[in-house]
Amino acid sequence: MSIIRFADLCAQGKAKGQRVFIRADLNVPFDDHGHISEDTRIRASVPGIRMALEAGAAVMVTSHLGRPTEGAFKPEDSLAPVARRLGELLGREVPVLTDWVSGVSVAAGQVVMLENCRANPGEKKNSEALARQLAALCDIYVNDAFGTAHRAEGTTYGIAQYAPIACAGPLLSAEIDAISKALANPKRPLAAIVAGSKVSTKLTILQALANNVDQLIVGGGIANTFMLAAGLKIGKSLAEPDLVGEAKAVIEAMKARGAEVPIPTDVVCAKTFGADATASVKPVREVADDDLILDIGPDTAARLAQQLKSAGTIVWNGPLGVFEWDAFANGTQVVAHAIADSEAFSIAGGGDTLAAIVKYGIESKIGYISTGGGAFLEVLEGKTLPALAILMQRASA
Ligand code: 3PG
Repeated sequence: MSIIRFADLCAQGKAKGQRVFIRADLNVPFDDHGHISEDTRIRASVPGIRMALEAGAAVMVTSHLGRPTEGAFKPEDSLAPVARRLGELLGREVPVLTDWVSGVSVAAGQVVMLENCRANPGEKKNSEALARQLAALCDIYVNDAFGTAHRAEGTTYGIAQYAPIACAGPLLSAEIDAISKALANPKRPLAAIVAGSKVSTKLTILQALANNVDQLIVGGGIANTFMLAAGLKIGKSLAEPDLVGEAKAVIEAMKARGAEVPIPTDVVCAKTFGADATASVKPVREVADDDLILDIGPDTAARLAQQLKSAGTIVWNGPLGVFEWDAFANGTQVVAHAIADSEAFSIAGGGDTLAAIVKYGIESKIGYISTGGGAFLEVLEGKTLPALAILMQRASA
């Protein structure tokens, strides 16, 4: 993929004394007390910011936080807590500037945070007027916001059209490299785990992966619909019977390529949906009409773990059961450890998947953990992300 990389510009001394505008994705979750509850994205943005500072640039960093109403900035939309956390990580103060679109004052070797970019009128619809104003703020535009690369907005697309130089930051570059390694040039067999509650939200991903992967492991509510497609009973479990035809088509597409969608042979059921529900393990053929399937069974989990041992590449999105509740966590836990212990290059992404990775303490054993939610899913769908497309276009112009 041909894009200009910020690291190369810095190595060539081209960032020295330049005004560098970094679009990061610092859209992090907050707890009920207004504290950042998970700061992965802030930590992941540090190398790009450090790189710019060490190169002697005058550094502006911005991000969106949530989905504020344009032109109606509210205190809860503020990046101030994010700037504080970033300041701790950088070991220096990061001042937050408001009303910055018409001009930013920052000296070489300094960094400022530009307040929530989504509060600027025209950001979401990528207005040309705003894009030109943003571009005028900088000499080098750096997109380091993989998590927002599926949005064609003012700070992810428009500014890249008009900035003198538009390039990818180290985080965006690393994400692209990891995804290419996993999907474009994978070491085979390539196994994908696509799990979650609904087939409908991941149908296009399943269809796209069915043309590429050697093994498509489904879990959660998605597996329930695939079990229906395989002619099995699933009681009153969450499923989408109207998508059974699509699930069958995915199974057939895989079969036609000599690949497979492993269907669970045993499951963990409950009669009610709750953390304290009594779990019972049973073969799939014994699922009763009033059963809710809340996890794959131990035999299925062990079989999947065995299969993952021989994978060359593993792509993981979504927990296999209701892993937040211990009685229904075994499937996700066994598969998570199998991925961690596998020699395969593994890449994982998505909020629930990251929560599972943290819960089982396997962060250091995953080849690459994506900071993308929706962006990661769109890549799995085989879509070209707009923010990347414009960087490629600029690199080839
Ligand atoms: C995310 O959290 O997935 C990204 O920051 C994108 O946020 P958005 O869905 O509001 O564009």
